[in-house]
Amino acid sequence: MSINMNFPPHSGKCGSPWCVRALLMVLLLGVEFVKTARHDTYPAIDPTKTNLTGQVALITGASKGIGKATAVAFAQAGASGLVLLARSDLNATKAACEAAAKRPGQSLKVLAINVDVSNTTQVNDAMAKVKETFGRLDIVVNNAGAVSPLALLAESDSETWWHVWDVNIRGTYEVTRAALPLLVESEGNRTVIIVSSLAAHGVFKTHGSAYGTTKLAHLRLAEYIAHEYGDKGVVAYAIHPGGIITDMTSGAPESYKQLYIDTLEVAAHTMVWLAREPKTWLSGRYVSCQWDVEELEAKKQEIVDGDKLKIRMVI
Ligand SMILES: *[C@@H]1O[C@H](CO)[C@@H](O)[C@H](O)[C@H]1NC(C)=O
Ligand SMILES: *[C@@H]1O[C@H](CO)[C@@H](O)[C@H](O)[C@H]1NC(C)=O
Ligand SMILES: *[C@@H]1O[C@H](CO)[C@@H](O)[C@H](O)[C@H]1NC(C)=O
Ligand SMILES: *[C@@H]1O[C@H](CO)[C@@H](O)[C@H](O)[C@H]1NC(C)=O
Repeated sequence: MSINMNFPPHSGKCGSPWCVRALLMVLLLGVEFVKTARHDTYPAIDPTKTNLTGQVALITGASKGIGKATAVAFAQAGASGLVLLARSDLNATKAACEAAAKRPGQSLKVLAINVDVSNTTQVNDAMAKVKETFGRLDIVVNNAGAVSPLALLAESDSETWWHVWDVNIRGTYEVTRAALPLLVESEGNRTVIIVSSLAAHGVFKTHGSAYGTTKLAHLRLAEYIAHEYGDKGVVAYAIHPGGIITDMTSGAPESYKQLYIDTLEVAAHTMVWLAREPKTWLSGRYVSCQWDVEELEAKKQEIVDGDKLKIRMVI
């Protein structure tokens, strides 16, 4: 299989996408929007420096990988309630969250519900349970995601292609739609995070049409949420979690696995940093978890003035 790849400026410079040296440069440079690329957690995003006492966070795809690490990070950040959604067993995540809730006086309640996020009824029922259990919801992390085998469009399987859209887009839509009334009523940080990807706007030029188009749609979805609910205090971000080996990426071709050098924590802890307080200047925009957050904050004026980190047509 010959996959055509492309590395846009924000992903690092690559002369020949095929040469390992170029791939390694991406690893080393990471991104160019800020100078420092992070591949592991660091003090500025330490979740124990965030105090989410009283707030409730919901994480989809929470049974493993990035979702599980994110749930644990919100427990470390002092959250009082966690809602874990996934199709598979959530016992291990629940236990890990309870063990991570170590703040003096922290009392964490974890609500774990087996849900297919693309199923409207199941999502609505889960949100009714959230309301009944906590009476509030402050943070939503749309992390559940699916990939399909890399294939040219005519060679792709229709069912698996649309399955990616069902989980990544319908799932994000259903969960966010059902959660928004609670977020609007919330007295907390009213944050929606969508786990998008660098694949939204680069890297795979071929063979990744299902995944790439859903991840691109995530960027616009975050922008819509920001515009429609910004005046009600809701902020939304679409993130690139980094290159991380998880069950989902473990099927990638060997030659790409060298791109996966980031820890789960750099993604999870950056998400907690995003939810630390509503950052209206960053709302509706794309954020890479590889970007050093202090350097990102230093570019606040540039981002707002240039309306950066959004998808636009070049004309
Ligand atoms: C966290 O915030 C709560 C109230 O929002 C406060 O009572 C508590 O002292 C804070 N904890 C820390 C460690 O700052
Ligand atoms: C966001 O959460 C932080 C930490 O709990 C809190 O200090 C802050 O007041 C919250 N902001 C809003 C707007 O609720
Ligand atoms: C998870 O916990 C529930 C309730 O404690 C239990 O019924 C179930 O068997 C557990 N699942 C696994 C896979 O151990
Ligand atoms: C959605 O979930 C409900 C309740 O579990 C189930 O009855 C229904 O068949 C599901 N719908 C689809 C389209 O899978």
